[in-house]
Amino acid sequence: MSRVSFLLLSLTLSLLYACSQEQETLANNYDIIPFPHLLQAQDGQFILAANTRLAALGTNEEVKRMVNNFACVLRSKSGLSLPVSEGVRSAPISFGIDSAIDHPEAYELRISAESIEVKAGAPHGLFYAIQTLRQLLNKSAGNTWYFPAATIIDTPRFPYRGTHLDVARHFHPVETVKAVIDQLAYHKLNTFHWHLTEDHGWRIEIKAFPKLTEIGAYRNGTLIGHYNDQPHQFDGKRYGGFYTQEQIKEVVQYAADRYIEVIPEIELPGHALAALAAYAELGCDGGPYEVWQKWGISENVFCPTETTFEFLEKVFDEVTDLFPAKYIHIGGDECPKTKWKESAFCQQLMEQEGLKDEYELQSYFIRRIERYLNSKGKQIIGWDEILEGGLAPNATIMSWRGTAGGVKAAQAGHDVIMTPTSHCYLDYYQSDHPDEPLAIGGLLPLEKVYSYEPIPIELSPEQAEHVLGTQVNLWTEYIPTQEKLEYMLFPRLCASAEGGWSKDRDFSDFIERLIPHLSRLEEMGIRPANHLYDIESDVKTHEGLVVVDLQTQTKAAAVHYTVDGSLPTITDALYDGAGIRIDTSTFIQAQCFQAGKAIGRPWEQQVDWHLAAGQSLQLAEMPHPKYGSGGAAALINGINGSDERYGDAEWLGFAGKDCVATIDLGGIRNVSHAQFRFFKGEGQWIYLPKSIKVFASPEGKNFTLIGASGPIEGDSKVVSPMVSLQATSARYLKVEIANYGIIPEGKQGGGHPAWLFVDEIRVE
Ligand code: ACM
Repeated sequence: MSRVSFLLLSLTLSLLYACSQEQETLANNYDIIPFPHLLQAQDGQFILAANTRLAALGTNEEVKRMVNNFACVLRSKSGLSLPVSEGVRSAPISFGIDSAIDHPEAYELRISAESIEVKAGAPHGLFYAIQTLRQLLNKSAGNTWYFPAATIIDTPRFPYRGTHLDVARHFHPVETVKAVIDQLAYHKLNTFHWHLTEDHGWRIEIKAFPKLTEIGAYRNGTLIGHYNDQPHQFDGKRYGGFYTQEQIKEVVQYAADRYIEVIPEIELPGHALAALAAYAELGCDGGPYEVWQKWGISENVFCPTETTFEFLEKVFDEVTDLFPAKYIHIGGDECPKTKWKESAFCQQLMEQEGLKDEYELQSYFIRRIERYLNSKGKQIIGWDEILEGGLAPNATIMSWRGTAGGVKAAQAGHDVIMTPTSHCYLDYYQSDHPDEPLAIGGLLPLEKVYSYEPIPIELSPEQAEHVLGTQVNLWTEYIPTQEKLEYMLFPRLCASAEGGWSKDRDFSDFIERLIPHLSRLEEMGIRPANHLYDIESDVKTHEGLVVVDLQTQTKAAAVHYTVDGSLPTITDALYDGAGIRIDTSTFIQAQCFQAGKAIGRPWEQQVDWHLAAGQSLQLAEMPHPKYGSGGAAALINGINGSDERYGDAEWLGFAGKDCVATIDLGGIRNVSHAQFRFFKGEGQWIYLPKSIKVFASPEGKNFTLIGASGPIEGDSKVVSPMVSLQATSARYLKVEIANYGIIPEGKQGGGHPAWLFVDEIRVE
């Protein structure tokens, strides 16, 4: 084609294109996650044409590479091969470094009908501007690709925004790790915490110690089902895998190309059984040891001998060569002290070093490792247990057992990363729907992740400066595949990313942005969970009634329900937000509808009536806030908590405490027995009670014992003992349920107080 005819054809196509634009109204959406610091929406759009030019201004090679990559992303999405110019030549879409922007992750983005101007103080910021542009790119029904006009001035709230992945309980190959890293970048997260060693597998090649991967990377079977399923059964299949050093370098570079730092975690002194299986001399009792097949924490930990320290120093020599990050995570969590107590060597070492107990021995261990790593120019991060027995001088704390560890460390002038189980553990269930795939326990729905405020209120502004940021953690006991990993990570990771980046947050607004964001993730091949249209209930008791409130995360759907056993249709009662009032045994069914069609999972709830249902109940001491969201009413609302899990609102968890409840039956009633529900999960430190006592009173002051039972025993996850009550009439019942007490040594959590989980107290 001649140059002239080519120009004519281009002109004709452009005119046709422009005409088609006139007929179309383009919608401007700003569904960005994490939401920018400042976004000023404007009228109009920048429309991409086949010849729209991109420019990488200046001489920075990183910027050139990034803009060329962005052109590739645009091509694969829109089919448009946009030309890129490099150097001084400007273009309608331009990317440049502006030294006036002083935060390396900040950027400014100005989109008008005529141009898109992107500026940042460093390539890192330009990279984040590109992630924003990727989320803003839109296509009209008429196939026009465009960016909505806006001015965006963006900068992160926290310098540390991470995600942790355990590849030891289940091994996830390099391709999966890269897919996760892609998503961290897309959500402007800057740290990948790679949990590489465990009782259940050692996953990093160490050339000085080949048996770590020859032996330590493989186990001879894996626990079937959940840890709480008794008796434990194993699949008998050899399982494992590891990353070669070449693969580690490849992942570190892949992450660096996306402005993500990789922090390796090498666990010590506990969670070390796989290393001991390879080199038995590292344990206290000589072994032999086997890579663990069941979940939980092994008592076999590194013995603090010179052999162990020499081993670990050589391991860290290789690890520090592989990972350029400033930090090395040394674990430090959940180190049982049993073997150290039994070891003559450890006892003698404690005496020699003037260490008063095994906690101080642990501190001695960590300090020695810290000293070595500091000498190699690295800083350590440790889980909050490293506070016990004295904190290593320069350590950064990762606060996971709540926020107290983070508070204490920040108050002592240490940097902290906040990742409490209550809001950041993505191995927890994300819904209490019975169809949820197997998870470790607990309940961490999207809203709760979103609600997390990383700065604890106890900290002064100066102390709060030590909070570097937050991260979510994904432990993989029950996550063997990439599909399940994606289901557990997304969209909760999106919520956490916004918590680390955005200063002002609003959950309803996030949810509306999440609807298109989930489609974007799916387009990229991610298989996220979608609970947006799940129906959740909030149940209260009120003057002899049980009142069931139904909610969904998005208002973009209507809820219809029935109480007559029929499946809800669009013509059944529309839930109006006022609560469904129940005063007899009832089966409620509900369903979300959008544009006349059922959407999301059906919901159902059986309410079983009894003498205490809907009445009032006072607790002498409230349950632990983590496991008490249903409040006292949960014990007398006629609704049973899950038979499988203790994380829903029906189960009240008491940490080391008794449950003492006084029930007002609303009038004098004849009572004959009471039935209780208790959760048993010894792996999670949840024990059945020592005893139950029931007292009765006509007026709420003078109580008489009318029934007792104990100790409570049973093998299933939920045990429901019945206590006969001496035939009597009473208005008030006082129930005393005695906590099991201290967990025996040798069990998970040995030496710690047991949890007591109680659900319905059914009175007949
Ligand atoms: C942990 O979850 N054990 C840090």
